[in-house]
Amino acid sequence: MSLGAASSWPGHGGRAAPLLARYGLPADYPLIDFSANLNPLGPPPWLGDWLAGAAECLTRYPDPDDDRARRAIAEHEGVAPERVLVTAGGAEAIFLAAGLHAGGRALIVQPTFSEYARACAHYGLGVSSLALNGEAFLLDVDAAERAMVAAEVLFLCRPNNPTGTLIPRKTIERLLARGRETGTTLVVDEAFVDFTAVDERLTPLLLEAPNLLLLRSLTKLYDLPGLRLGYLLGAPETVARLAARQLPWSVNALALALVAPLLADADYLARTRAWLAAQRDLPARVRALGHAVAPTDANFLLLRGGRDAAEAEALFAFLLRRGLLARHTHNFPGLDGRWLRLALRDGRDNACLLAALAAWRRG
Ligand SMILES: Cc1ncc(COP(=O)(O)O)c(C=O)c1O
Repeated sequence: MSLGAASSWPGHGGRAAPLLARYGLPADYPLIDFSANLNPLGPPPWLGDWLAGAAECLTRYPDPDDDRARRAIAEHEGVAPERVLVTAGGAEAIFLAAGLHAGGRALIVQPTFSEYARACAHYGLGVSSLALNGEAFLLDVDAAERAMVAAEVLFLCRPNNPTGTLIPRKTIERLLARGRETGTTLVVDEAFVDFTAVDERLTPLLLEAPNLLLLRSLTKLYDLPGLRLGYLLGAPETVARLAARQLPWSVNALALALVAPLLADADYLARTRAWLAAQRDLPARVRALGHAVAPTDANFLLLRGGRDAAEAEALFAFLLRRGLLARHTHNFPGLDGRWLRLALRDGRDNACLLAALAAWRRG
């Protein structure tokens, strides 16, 4: 069965219903979701009890003078509270960052998360694209430096969704220095940074680089995508301008109240690190089966589905019928459906994936 144009595919992972319908499978077909890059540990175990006692949050407006969430993030990141803006997920942070440059020009490194382009379109930014190189998806730093002349804002994703590649801190420093010459702000989306093994935090760069905006998401790490919780870090003046543009009460009271207890849960972080350490070899194990996998520093991998998009679609369908939902890549420029993105899950789920990929190779 042909899967048709990119526009008929769901724009994000985690949306099984249209894909099951497409293949004539029932809506309740049991699936393991490898298409959304969320922490497979699930939310912290105390969350249910916490929610039961938090209903009173919903009977009042979020208090704009209550900065406990902001202070908790500032302490967690080792920055001043004035550098923090709590947002309704990383998604709101992306749109706020684009809005600051409304009508200007943006540079987007592709393939990457589709919401940068959507946010730029929403705010009337003209967009130039720079393609990552080869099947290792490396950034051509010289080309990026040249292209920055014509951009007020450069969107970078670190580690990059969907490739998993992580731009080294040294490269970010070089681009920030270049940005000071060209008047370019670097928006570095670190939604998945807590899942990398590379210890190269960018937070200290904020002190010397007023043209740096760091975007974070709390929905991936804590498996709470429905909550809508993230934040951005930047120069105090920029953060103040962004706060002034934020919709009233955009972060709900439950989300705000949850920030401090989430960040304080050291045990959850330790368990997450232990899970990652145990499953970090998944890309190597997939490669060992004869599949091409891009180098990844993230909690997901990008697998070349075959010679062309048709073969990748056949593999996608094969996995789906075995109850494994992959993320298609039709809406990632440069991948165009030829690759599949797969999240790292727990050992049992990953074993199912490896068995299916081995079966596919055997034909
Ligand atoms: C790179 C990247 N940034 C930001 C987001 C948005 O995250 P949030 O759920 O915090 O809005 C996503 C979601 O998939 C993402 O992949």
